[in-house]
Formats: sequence, structure tokens, C-alpha cells
Amino acid sequence: MTVDVREMDYADLDGVVALEEVTFSEAWSRRTFADELARARTRGWYVAEEDGALLGYGGVMVIDDEAHIMNIAVRGDRRREGVASALLDVLAGRARELGADRLTLEVRAENEAAIQFYRSVGMQLAGERRSYYGPGAHALIMGAAIDDVGTGGGVPAESSHVAEAQESRSGAELILAIETSCDETAAAVMRGGTELLSNVVASQVDFHARFGGVVPEIASRKHTEAIVGVVDEALARANVTFADLDAIAVTYGPGLIGALVVGVAYAKGLSFSTGLPLVGDNHLEGHIFAAALAEPDIAPPLVALVVSGGHTSLVHVPEWGVYHTLGQTLDDAAGEAFDKVAKVLGLGYPGGPVISKLAEEGDPTAIDFPRAMMHSGDYRFSLSGLKTAVINHIRNEREAGREMSLPDLAASFQAAVVDVQVAKTVRAAVELGVGTVCLAGGVAANPSLREGLRTALAERGIRLSVPPFAFCTDNAAMIAAAGTWRFRRGDRLGPAAEAVADLSLA
Ligand code: KG4
Ligand code: ZN
Repeated sequence: MTVDVREMDYADLDGVVALEEVTFSEAWSRRTFADELARARTRGWYVAEEDGALLGYGGVMVIDDEAHIMNIAVRGDRRREGVASALLDVLAGRARELGADRLTLEVRAENEAAIQFYRSVGMQLAGERRSYYGPGAHALIMGAAIDDVGTGGGVPAESSHVAEAQESRSGAELILAIETSCDETAAAVMRGGTELLSNVVASQVDFHARFGGVVPEIASRKHTEAIVGVVDEALARANVTFADLDAIAVTYGPGLIGALVVGVAYAKGLSFSTGLPLVGDNHLEGHIFAAALAEPDIAPPLVALVVSGGHTSLVHVPEWGVYHTLGQTLDDAAGEAFDKVAKVLGLGYPGGPVISKLAEEGDPTAIDFPRAMMHSGDYRFSLSGLKTAVINHIRNEREAGREMSLPDLAASFQAAVVDVQVAKTVRAAVELGVGTVCLAGGVAANPSLREGLRTALAERGIRLSVPPFAFCTDNAAMIAAAGTWRFRRGDRLGPAAEAVADLSLA
């Protein structure tokens, strides 16, 4: 495309006014434009055209050393082609010529794409004008030193416009993600969906340990205490400020409602005060995206086994964003079973890590615990029967005064959980014909489950992806990865959105 940008002249006004009228709800009149053209000493008005056809226009006003962009509009069918960038370059050049050393503009607070665009050329949030465009329609003021404004000669393919929302650029988005669905207060900063700049997790585990499980009221209060510090820390470690960000992502379900609301309210507040778009994330989707964090080439179609303290789900993912839940647990989640068995044994909370450590030394065939639903022919799980069998076994042994081998008990219990999960996951992958399985959630940290799956899948030529340990348990890096994907799709969480405790994946 060859876009010519030249000075606007009176003969252009018909076309300019027509474009103005379809673009802005409070359009300037022909007279206002004529008036502007008459003030050439402090103004710069330009049109962009291709073969004589008007594509867009823009104007800048200079007062003392400050330049103010008054208007940039691009024809609806010619956006995202670099027209706005080309105009902005010329406007900045004219402003420099008139002696300005700073460039500012106002943009509608909800016009995320325009805000994105101005950020992408180096402008930053400088303030807010409330109700500037009418009651409740706020303006954000953006500004930059004029020498910092540049579009790289119109290289970015996207363009924008002050009034209309356009798609944002992708590839280098800087996202702050917040996760508070359970008992970890977490924040992470990520660039471009893969480059993790910081990943801060404040665990409350110590506060819950004495109760043998997560206490919702404590979780909620601890999130409230920790969230500001955790977010600040994530920004500081990433060496960025709010002004550098492109969006905020937050987990809004599923999880403990009292815990989720803390993250959601804080993220909404940040979004409102900074003008940054807010993206809502599903916690389970985050766990699935964790696989792609370590192995960026991981892509659907795949089967994911999501096993955590709250979930045991086998999910078919034909493409990102499409989830078919094949089966879930009918009662306890896998992690919950580990936690409850550990509690009965007085091993503390969370149970998974302790039991898997003990199991390393034990004999998994020592006690024959039930493999519930192993041959049910579907993808559902049940873990409460196993939990009861383990508890009964412990009671019987204690009553009989027999010495129990904790490692054998742990290994046998773990084997019963792992066997069923491996069998069903492998069958799902084979039946659906996928080449990849992702293991996700806190229980994915279990070495025996990892190994069992890896071996069984390898025999069938199916790839297993397991996130590194830090991305298995709750964290915000996975929320940032999923959030970036949702951000690119244009998904947004509105200011009235609420946390959803039982948010489903599909
Ligand atoms: O994903 P996550 O951090 O939080 C939830 O979303 O629930 O998962 C926590 C769960 C806990 O139940 C914990 O006992 C379990 O993951 N877990 C493990 C292991 N490490 C953590 N379960 C079995 N083996 C492990 N090594
Ligand atoms: Zn989780």
C-alpha cells in the first residue's frame, strides 16, 4: 500500500467532514474544520490518501512547547493497515517543527484499541478527565516526550483511531496476571504470552496447615492482606510499571468465592484506575495453558488431565478455547484424597507432597486398595471409596496393634489413584486420536503419576507434557499465558463482572 500523507486543504473538507460524521458521535462541523485550517501557525492538519482517495486525516495543535493531537480518524474499511501510524508520524514531525517537546491527547477510557495503539508508539497514561465526553464517558490523557513518539516509519501493521475500538497489536503484549482462587496469592508479568518476566506466589499454606485444609475465611483475609504487596513485587521484579502494561488478567473462577472476589475486585480497581483492559480467566484453563509455558510448541488437539485439590477432570481440547469435559470425579478430587489421607495420618497439609515423598520408599503392591471406576467404561472418577478404604485400613491396623509401614501405605494408596488416572487418560487419548496429553494442576507434581503416564503414553507414541513443578501448583504465570490468548481474542471482563465459584470450562 502506498499511503500519501499531505497537508489538508479547503478542497478536502467535503470528504473530511463526511468521514468525521461517520466516525465520531459528536462530529466537528465543516465550519470548525475551516476555522482550524485558518490557524495554520499553531496547527497541523493532514490527510492520508491512496490514489487520490481519502483514507484518513489527523490534526495537531501546538501551544507553547506542548502539542496536542486533536483528531485521528481512519476509514472503517482501511484500519489496521498503518494509516494512523503514518498520520501520527507526520503530526509528530509538524509538532516538532512548531517547537513542541511534548505530545498529548485524550482518548475515550473504554477505547482500548486506541489506547493500545498510542502505547505502541510510546505514549503513556498521564491522567484522566472524568466525564469529558459526557456523563460517565471518561477520557484518559496520554502523553510522551515528542522524541519518544515513533511508529518506526509505519512498520506496525495495525492502526487505530481515537473514537473506534480496533484490534490490538499482538506479539509483545505486556500482561499482569492475578490469581487468588484458592490459597495462593499470585501475580505474574508476561510479555507476548510466553516470556515470563516475574512470577510471585505468596502461599498461605502455613495458615491453613493447622486446620488440615483450606479455611475459606482465612484464605479471603490473607488474600486481602497480601495482594497489594504481591502485585507490586511482580511489577518490581519485572522492572515495569502500570504505564508499561497492555492489560490485566485475573482468575474469576472456579474456586473459593471469598478468595476469588479479592483478586477480581482488586483487578477491576486497577483496570478502572489505569484504563487498562481487563481479561477474565478460568482457573482450569490456566492449568491447561501451564503446559504451553514450558513447551511453547504444545498445541491442540490434546487431552488434558486436570488434577488438583478441587478438580479431577479429563478434558478434550480440540482447539484452544474449546473444552469438552470427558469426565470428572463424582466425589473427592485427587488432591483432596491425598490431603484427607494425610490428615488421618497426622502428616499435615497439603498431603500430596508428604505422601508422594513417603511413597518413594514404599512398596506400591503392599496393600491392595480398590481402583474405583477402573472398568466403568467411561471417563468418570471416584475417590471417596479409596479414601474410606485407606482410613479403614489404618483403623484396623491400629486396633490390631500392628506396626504400620507408612511408606507402604502411602505407596499403595498413591498407586491406586495413579493406576486409574493413567488408564483413563491413556484410553481417552487413544480413543480421541490425539498426539498430545497435558498433565495439569497441583497433583501433576506427583512423580509417580508423571512417570506412569509418561511410560504408558510413550508406548503408544503419544507425547506427554508436564509443566515444571512451579507451574503445576497454583500460580499466576499460567493465568498470564491463558490471559494473553484471551486478550488477543478480544475477551474482556466488564466492570460489573463478578467472580463465579463454579465457573465451568466449556
Ligand atoms: O492446583 P493446586 O495448587 O490448587 C488447586 O487448584 O486445588 O493443587 C493443590 C493440590 C493439593 O491437594 C495438594 O495436596 C496436591 O495438589 N499436590 C499433590 C502433590 N503436590 C501437590 N498431590 C499429589 N502428589 C504431589 N506431589
Ligand atoms: Zn489450581
